Amino acid sequence: MDSEFGLKGSSLIREWSGQVQPALVATFVFLFFLEACLWVRNLRLKRRLPGPFAWPVVGNAMQLGQMPHVTFARLAKKYGNVYQIRLGCSDVVVLNGDKAIRQALIQHGAEFAGRPNFVSFQMISGGRSLTFTNYSKQWKVHRKIAQSSLRAFSSANSQTKKAFEQHITGEAMQLVQMFLQQSADGQYFNPSNKFPVAAANVMCALCFGRRYGHDDIEFTSLMKKVNKFGETVGAGSLVDVMPWLQSFPNPVRSGYENFKSLNEEFFTFVKDKVLQHRETFDPDVTRDMSDAIINVIEHGKDNGLSKEFAEATVTDLIGAGQDTVSTAMQWIILLLIKYPDIQAKLHTVIDKVVGPDRLPTMEDRQSIPYLEAFIYEVMRFTSFVPLTIPHSTTADVTIEGLHIPKDTVVFINQWSVNHDTLKWTDPQIFDPTRFLDENGALDKDLATSVMIFSTGKRRCIGDQIAKVEVFLFTAILLHQCCFESDPSAGVSLDCSYGLSLKPVHFCLRAKLRGKLLGVVSPA
Ligand code: HEM
Repeated sequence: MDSEFGLKGSSLIREWSGQVQPALVATFVFLFFLEACLWVRNLRLKRRLPGPFAWPVVGNAMQLGQMPHVTFARLAKKYGNVYQIRLGCSDVVVLNGDKAIRQALIQHGAEFAGRPNFVSFQMISGGRSLTFTNYSKQWKVHRKIAQSSLRAFSSANSQTKKAFEQHITGEAMQLVQMFLQQSADGQYFNPSNKFPVAAANVMCALCFGRRYGHDDIEFTSLMKKVNKFGETVGAGSLVDVMPWLQSFPNPVRSGYENFKSLNEEFFTFVKDKVLQHRETFDPDVTRDMSDAIINVIEHGKDNGLSKEFAEATVTDLIGAGQDTVSTAMQWIILLLIKYPDIQAKLHTVIDKVVGPDRLPTMEDRQSIPYLEAFIYEVMRFTSFVPLTIPHSTTADVTIEGLHIPKDTVVFINQWSVNHDTLKWTDPQIFDPTRFLDENGALDKDLATSVMIFSTGKRRCIGDQIAKVEVFLFTAILLHQCCFESDPSAGVSLDCSYGLSLKPVHFCLRAKLRGKLLGVVSPA
């Protein structure tokens, strides 16, 4: 019965496909010509920005390649710094180069401050994300609350500054201990999965007043999943622009299913903690950032935000603060083993300022400009957040003489700013000294022109605390350890693409330099 059915089925299919295939080809040819005619007409009438021809159905999706930011910079050489591509059913304007990007995000800040209404964005932080929400009055209030509570717990006064530094120092020393343990007997190991836990712990200390051990399986596996978050929301991800990919099994659909479940899991984890805070809330004692956020949103003057925005804010802050800082640290360690001469110089300058008997602190920052220059060069060279989170236009706007309609998706290519040959000499070369002047001092103007935190109304609100974290983690790891690559494996800069670029694989071993200093107990 089965085989009969199968036979009948296959002859039916053959018959069917004999009729359908010519119809499919004809439809495709028709669509192609229609698309080509529209493209030429719109280009002639200047209704369309310059840009490559977009294929029917997929648009330019197949041309993005493994590293879309590099493709976008290459296309800018042909079409100019402001051009248009099509991804599936969405027209996307791509901005490249320092001048066009700053003109858009600063001079036309409000017009470029939107976020597209992608379905994936609605899965984040219970649908009330500050980061992935469109520009509005409510968003402004939400951002202000997040910004001021971050400031209150990291830099408001010398006491909070000190407490924040202590969390980072504690986490850094945990890393030192683990790295030394894993390098026992000269073994090499992959340190990548330690950084997400360390960076998340700094945020958990601020938000919940507690940390999680590197041996806490539930927490470490949650962090491992969260690591994949950026694959779906990075510019060029196909989930939102080709919704029909959801209707049959394929890698994009399964990636999206994973994305939904990791968001649910992460949000549940944070919500749980915020609920505990709500239940034990005392208006006279602000224990941590969760309390501070609950206080403003639920007990402050009416701000139009329901209480669910409290858990959404905490989820956004931990998520944003964890992935980015841990990725920065992975690149820093990778570049330290790739360039041992630079590492040796960093050891020398740190030893000179700090000496062997204490750990580096933020007060040392001004005195170690070479370390600051190294960190800025890592950010510029890797541009590990190569494109910002996708923006959208909130009104019709003209940029470099080109008209962009309201509600257009906009990709902002930070990588192109940091690799612009008009601005940087030999941008493809890793050289921290490019940030030092003739007296060895940090060239602050040049350093702040590196674009990794974006700019304008959507600029990262964690930039200052990220800089403190990255500086202290790096200074302490270098003060205590020397890092060596595995000579049999080499050091590759290959990375995976997403909202952040992550090194694919690397191995190293750590050796103690001098004495192991007192481990500060974190959180
Ligand atoms: C080295 C570390 C970091 C880098 C490179 C980075 C970079 C970025 C970038 C590129 C954006 C998108 C801006 C845009 O769309 O134009 C962003 C947004 C954001 N970042 Fe960061 N970030 C870092 C650390 C942090 C930290 C530590 C926090 C908080 C604790 C944080 C919180 C946020 C938030 C809340 C937004 C959303 C802003 C909005 O949409 O209005 N970031 N960040």
